[in-house]
Amino acid sequence: MRNSTFQQELFKEKSIIEIEIGCGNGHFISQYAEINRDKYLIGIEFKEKRFIKTSKKINEKNLDNVMLFNSRAETILADIPPLTIDTFHIYFPDPWPKARHRKRRFLRMENISILHRILKPHGKIFFITDFFDYYIQTKVLLLAHRGFSLALNSFPDNVLISIYGNKSMNMNKNIYRLSVEKTD
Ligand SMILES: C[S@@+](CC[C@H](N)C(=O)[O-])C[C@H]1O[C@@H](n2cnc3c(N)ncnc32)[C@H](O)[C@@H]1O
Repeated sequence: MRNSTFQQELFKEKSIIEIEIGCGNGHFISQYAEINRDKYLIGIEFKEKRFIKTSKKINEKNLDNVMLFNSRAETILADIPPLTIDTFHIYFPDPWPKARHRKRRFLRMENISILHRILKPHGKIFFITDFFDYYIQTKVLLLAHRGFSLALNSFPDNVLISIYGNKSMNMNKNIYRLSVEKTD
Protein backbone atom coordinates (compact mmCIF):
# COMPACT_ATOMS: atom_id res chain seq x y z
CA MET A 1 0.00 0.00 0.00
CA ARG A 2 1.24 3.47 -0.76
CA ASN A 3 -0.16 6.29 1.35
CA SER A 4 -0.13 9.96 0.56
CA THR A 5 2.25 9.89 -2.43
CA PHE A 6 0.09 10.42 -5.43
CA GLN A 7 1.78 8.78 -8.35
CA GLN A 8 0.75 10.25 -11.65
CA GLU A 9 2.79 7.46 -13.23
CA LEU A 10 0.11 5.02 -12.11
CA PHE A 11 -2.28 6.47 -14.66
CA LYS A 12 0.11 5.85 -17.53
CA GLU A 13 0.03 2.14 -16.85
CA LYS A 14 -2.68 0.18 -18.56
CA SER A 15 -4.16 -1.25 -15.40
CA ILE A 16 -7.74 -1.26 -14.20
CA ILE A 17 -8.11 1.52 -11.66
CA GLU A 18 -11.17 1.80 -9.43
CA ILE A 19 -11.97 4.31 -6.68
CA GLU A 20 -14.08 3.96 -3.56
CA ILE A 21 -15.25 7.32 -2.27
CA GLY A 22 -15.97 7.40 1.48
CA CYS A 23 -14.58 3.94 2.18
CA GLY A 24 -15.42 4.27 5.90
CA ASN A 25 -13.77 1.52 7.99
CA GLY A 26 -12.58 -0.27 4.86
CA HIS A 27 -14.70 -3.41 4.92
CA PHE A 28 -15.57 -3.32 1.24
CA ILE A 29 -12.31 -2.05 -0.24
CA SER A 30 -10.13 -4.49 1.71
CA GLN A 31 -12.18 -7.49 0.66
CA TYR A 32 -12.66 -6.29 -2.93
CA ALA A 33 -8.93 -5.60 -3.37
CA GLU A 34 -8.10 -9.03 -1.95
CA ILE A 35 -10.40 -10.79 -4.41
CA ASN A 36 -9.42 -8.59 -7.38
CA ARG A 37 -5.62 -8.56 -7.34
CA ASP A 38 -5.60 -7.57 -11.01
CA LYS A 39 -7.26 -4.23 -10.17
CA TYR A 40 -5.74 -1.17 -8.59
CA LEU A 41 -7.92 0.38 -5.89
CA ILE A 42 -7.87 3.94 -4.58
CA GLY A 43 -9.77 4.48 -1.33
CA ILE A 44 -10.62 7.96 -0.11
CA GLU A 45 -11.90 8.59 3.42
CA PHE A 46 -12.25 11.97 5.04
CA LYS A 47 -12.46 10.92 8.72
CA GLU A 48 -9.06 10.08 10.20
CA LYS A 49 -10.19 7.30 12.58
CA ARG A 50 -11.95 5.48 9.75
CA PHE A 51 -8.98 6.01 7.44
CA ILE A 52 -6.72 4.40 10.08
CA LYS A 53 -9.07 1.42 10.43
CA THR A 54 -9.06 0.99 6.66
CA SER A 55 -5.24 1.22 6.57
CA LYS A 56 -4.98 -1.49 9.22
CA LYS A 57 -7.19 -3.86 7.23
CA ILE A 58 -5.15 -3.27 4.09
CA ASN A 59 -1.87 -3.80 5.94
CA GLU A 60 -3.11 -6.94 7.70
CA LYS A 61 -4.02 -8.46 4.35
CA ASN A 62 -0.71 -7.26 2.93
CA LEU A 63 -2.39 -5.79 -0.12
CA ASP A 64 -0.14 -3.94 -2.54
CA ASN A 65 -2.90 -2.98 -4.97
CA VAL A 66 -4.47 -0.30 -2.76
CA MET A 67 -3.64 3.36 -2.29
CA LEU A 68 -5.47 5.24 0.49
CA PHE A 69 -6.02 8.92 1.06
CA ASN A 70 -7.19 10.60 4.25
CA SER A 71 -8.77 13.53 2.48
CA ARG A 72 -11.87 14.95 0.92
CA ALA A 73 -12.50 13.13 -2.33
CA GLU A 74 -12.87 16.42 -4.20
CA THR A 75 -9.22 17.30 -3.43
CA ILE A 76 -7.87 13.98 -4.68
CA LEU A 77 -10.09 13.78 -7.76
CA ALA A 78 -8.90 17.22 -8.88
CA ASP A 79 -5.41 15.72 -9.41
CA ILE A 80 -6.51 12.69 -11.44
CA PRO A 81 -5.99 12.93 -15.19
CA PRO A 82 -9.04 12.64 -17.48
CA LEU A 83 -10.11 9.25 -18.92
CA THR A 84 -8.16 7.14 -16.45
CA ILE A 85 -10.63 5.54 -14.04
CA ASP A 86 -12.67 2.41 -14.76
CA THR A 87 -15.17 2.43 -11.90
CA PHE A 88 -16.35 4.47 -8.93
CA HIS A 89 -17.81 2.74 -5.87
CA ILE A 90 -19.95 5.03 -3.71
CA TYR A 91 -21.75 3.10 -0.99
CA PHE A 92 -23.95 4.74 1.65
CA PRO A 93 -22.54 8.26 1.22
CA ASP A 94 -23.61 10.75 3.89
CA PRO A 95 -27.29 11.42 3.08
CA TRP A 96 -27.64 14.92 4.55
CA PRO A 97 -31.38 14.37 5.03
CA LYS A 98 -32.34 17.92 5.99
CA ALA A 99 -33.54 19.88 2.94
CA ARG A 100 -31.23 22.80 3.69
CA HIS A 101 -28.20 20.47 3.78
CA ARG A 102 -28.82 18.59 0.53
CA LYS A 103 -26.35 20.72 -1.37
CA ARG A 104 -23.64 19.06 0.76
CA ARG A 105 -24.33 15.62 -0.72
CA PHE A 106 -21.31 14.24 -2.54
CA LEU A 107 -23.32 13.33 -5.64
CA ARG A 108 -24.17 16.86 -6.71
CA MET A 109 -23.87 18.05 -10.33
CA GLU A 110 -20.45 19.64 -9.84
CA ASN A 111 -18.97 16.36 -8.58
CA ILE A 112 -20.83 14.25 -11.14
CA SER A 113 -19.08 16.30 -13.85
CA ILE A 114 -15.72 15.59 -12.21
CA LEU A 115 -16.45 11.83 -12.10
CA HIS A 116 -17.45 12.00 -15.77
CA ARG A 117 -14.23 13.79 -16.73
CA ILE A 118 -11.93 11.21 -15.19
CA LEU A 119 -13.88 8.07 -16.10
CA LYS A 120 -12.75 6.08 -19.14
CA PRO A 121 -15.30 5.58 -21.95
CA HIS A 122 -17.90 3.07 -20.65
CA GLY A 123 -16.58 3.66 -17.14
CA LYS A 124 -19.05 2.83 -14.39
CA ILE A 125 -20.46 4.32 -11.22
CA PHE A 126 -21.96 1.99 -8.61
CA PHE A 127 -24.04 3.85 -6.01
CA ILE A 128 -26.02 2.51 -3.06
CA THR A 129 -28.05 4.42 -0.52
CA ASP A 130 -30.83 3.70 1.94
CA PHE A 131 -32.26 7.20 1.42
CA PHE A 132 -34.88 7.12 -1.32
CA ASP A 133 -34.65 10.85 -1.74
CA TYR A 134 -30.86 10.69 -2.34
CA TYR A 135 -31.39 7.84 -4.82
CA ILE A 136 -33.97 9.81 -6.84
CA GLN A 137 -31.94 13.01 -6.73
CA THR A 138 -28.82 11.20 -7.96
CA LYS A 139 -30.69 9.41 -10.73
CA VAL A 140 -32.17 12.70 -11.96
CA LEU A 141 -28.78 14.45 -11.86
CA LEU A 142 -26.97 11.62 -13.66
CA LEU A 143 -29.56 11.60 -16.44
CA ALA A 144 -29.66 15.40 -16.62
CA HIS A 145 -25.88 15.40 -17.06
CA ARG A 146 -26.38 13.52 -20.38
CA GLY A 147 -23.00 11.81 -20.23
CA PHE A 148 -24.33 8.66 -18.57
CA SER A 149 -26.89 5.98 -19.24
CA LEU A 150 -28.53 3.65 -16.77
CA ALA A 151 -26.80 0.27 -16.83
CA LEU A 152 -27.68 -3.22 -15.75
CA ASN A 153 -24.17 -4.04 -14.58
CA SER A 154 -24.25 -6.44 -11.68
CA PHE A 155 -22.84 -4.97 -8.51
CA PRO A 156 -19.69 -6.44 -7.00
CA ASP A 157 -20.18 -9.06 -4.29
CA ASN A 158 -20.07 -7.90 -0.69
CA VAL A 159 -21.15 -4.31 -1.25
CA LEU A 160 -23.26 -4.60 1.90
CA ILE A 161 -20.51 -5.86 4.23
CA SER A 162 -19.72 -2.33 5.36
CA ILE A 163 -20.92 -0.96 8.68
CA TYR A 164 -23.68 1.04 7.02
CA GLY A 165 -24.66 -1.80 4.69
CA ASN A 166 -25.04 -4.10 7.67
CA LYS A 167 -26.90 -1.50 9.68
CA SER A 168 -29.41 -0.97 6.87
CA MET A 169 -29.96 -4.70 6.49
CA ASN A 170 -30.36 -5.25 10.24
CA MET A 171 -32.90 -2.46 10.43
CA ASN A 172 -34.70 -3.92 7.40
CA LYS A 173 -34.37 -0.66 5.52
CA ASN A 174 -34.93 -0.51 1.79
CA ILE A 175 -31.68 -0.30 -0.11
CA TYR A 176 -31.55 1.53 -3.45
CA ARG A 177 -28.92 0.68 -6.04
CA LEU A 178 -27.99 2.68 -9.10
CA SER A 179 -25.46 1.77 -11.74
CA VAL A 180 -24.59 3.98 -14.70
CA GLU A 181 -22.12 3.83 -17.54
CA LYS A 182 -20.36 6.75 -19.21
CA THR A 183 -21.72 7.20 -22.73
CA ASP A 184 -19.64 10.06 -24.12
C1 LIG B 1 -22.20 6.96 5.86
S1 LIG B 1 -20.49 6.60 5.75
C2 LIG B 1 -20.42 5.13 4.74
C3 LIG B 1 -19.08 4.47 4.80
C4 LIG B 1 -18.95 3.19 3.97
N1 LIG B 1 -19.02 3.48 2.55
C5 LIG B 1 -19.98 2.20 4.39
O1 LIG B 1 -20.78 1.76 3.53
O2 LIG B 1 -20.02 1.84 5.58
C6 LIG B 1 -19.92 7.84 4.59
C7 LIG B 1 -18.42 7.99 4.65
O3 LIG B 1 -17.99 8.89 3.65
C8 LIG B 1 -17.01 9.77 4.20
N2 LIG B 1 -17.07 11.01 3.42
C9 LIG B 1 -18.09 11.89 3.36
N3 LIG B 1 -17.83 12.86 2.49
C10 LIG B 1 -16.61 12.59 1.97
C11 LIG B 1 -15.78 13.22 1.03
N4 LIG B 1 -16.16 14.36 0.44
N5 LIG B 1 -14.59 12.68 0.73
C12 LIG B 1 -14.19 11.52 1.35
N6 LIG B 1 -14.93 10.87 2.25
C13 LIG B 1 -16.12 11.40 2.57
C14 LIG B 1 -17.42 9.94 5.65
O4 LIG B 1 -16.35 10.34 6.45
C15 LIG B 1 -17.94 8.54 5.98
O5 LIG B 1 -16.95 7.71 6.50
